[in-house]
Amino acid sequence: MRTQVGIIGAGPAGLLLSHLLHLRGIESVVLERRSREYVERRVRAGVLEQGTVDTLVEAGVGERMKREGLPHHGIELRYGGAGHRIAFERLVPGRAITVYGQQEVVKDLIAARLAAGGDVRFEVDDVAVHDIDTDRPYLTFGGERLDCDVIAGCDGFHGVSRPSIPEGVLTEYQRDYPFAWLGILAKVKPSSEELIYSRTERGFALHSMRTPEISRFYLQVAPDEDLAAWPDERIWAELRARLETVPGFTLATGEIVERGITPMRGFVAEPMQYGRLFLAGDAAHIVPPTGAKGLNLAVADVRVLTEALARLFADGSTEALDGYSTACLPRVWRAQHFSWWMTTLLHTFESDDAYARRLQTSYLDYVTSSDAAGTTLAENYVGLPYQEETS
Ligand code: FAD
Ligand code: PHB
Repeated sequence: MRTQVGIIGAGPAGLLLSHLLHLRGIESVVLERRSREYVERRVRAGVLEQGTVDTLVEAGVGERMKREGLPHHGIELRYGGAGHRIAFERLVPGRAITVYGQQEVVKDLIAARLAAGGDVRFEVDDVAVHDIDTDRPYLTFGGERLDCDVIAGCDGFHGVSRPSIPEGVLTEYQRDYPFAWLGILAKVKPSSEELIYSRTERGFALHSMRTPEISRFYLQVAPDEDLAAWPDERIWAELRARLETVPGFTLATGEIVERGITPMRGFVAEPMQYGRLFLAGDAAHIVPPTGAKGLNLAVADVRVLTEALARLFADGSTEALDGYSTACLPRVWRAQHFSWWMTTLLHTFESDDAYARRLQTSYLDYVTSSDAAGTTLAENYVGLPYQEETS
């Protein structure tokens, strides 16, 4: 078997890459370890930057998102007994976010690939990459061989592509946080129209949503927290304690339909490429979810990779591909910093003394009272323009 681009992983990065390449007349095969049902049900991110929304719409896969996605023009930072709105419409006019579940994006992309006759294979075992330091790389899986011109490693943080780069090539940067997020999805109407990021002495909590009937919540918990120690009543009691901190706000509760614990980590591997293997999305970098950047960064990488591959297949030029990592990393590091900053601003760190807590409050006061500081948050949150547009 032969294709132009062998793609490992049918998450947002791999599927969008396959779709964008198809629009440029470039063939690909996507190899996914899990079942289609599994990837379509996996609950993860929910906040799409303006650029992500525009990318999906321009690529013809934004119809359902435009119908069902929830445009938001602000978020609330809640602390010290009051809520403070960061107003995107005033601070970053014309830019907003859309709340639309990652698994809905994945469903839309799979449907588009299959409708166009795309080759997406699920439940594929033992994917391995070979000869990436030649211009004839290939993939093996389940006893088969797929020859490619280029391989895209879109297989997430725990995938096989990054570890198949020879030792000594990559420099890895990592920051582990001393807490995790316990996330739930509940059948209950959101208690707020906009997302609430709440900082309390008990720890951080986030009120998000998916639809007018489904809410999503997160609680800061210990890094080694056991999900079994969190029966429904305890989750709701803790969410109430951390969200009902302003007068007149009551949290509506409902049936919990999904739950999980996510470690909090920042990670970047540089460069994001080796020979004919290119890493995109979580395979190359992850961020703590406080800035809602993970999925959006994956989309930004794939845009750059698509352009570079289009050049390769148009005229054999490898210049853009050679510069792939260099083109992606400034945005990757901006997102690392923003995610670290939001995390530091809003979480309780056991190591913090009273002085550090006062600094945290001072910065929150600044962000919520100064347009200059508020704009810093707003423009990063809705997403900075893509490099292609500013150069
Ligand atoms: P992924 O979505 O991880 O997709 C990689 C795909 O590759 C998967 O389908 C996987 O099954 C497949 N794969 C892995 N190994 C192999 C292999 N060997 N062979 C074949 N296929 C393979 N971001 C937020 O903004 N908010 C959140 O609440 C949030 N929650 C998250 C919770 C979890 C548990 C995780 C892991 C991430 C979360 N993120 C969140 C981050 C966001 O979801 C990711 O940044 C986004 O999924 C990146 O997309 P991706 O396509 O690069 O990787
Ligand atoms: C979500 O809705 O899943 C979500 C929203 C905002 C974040 C992280 C996750 O910062």
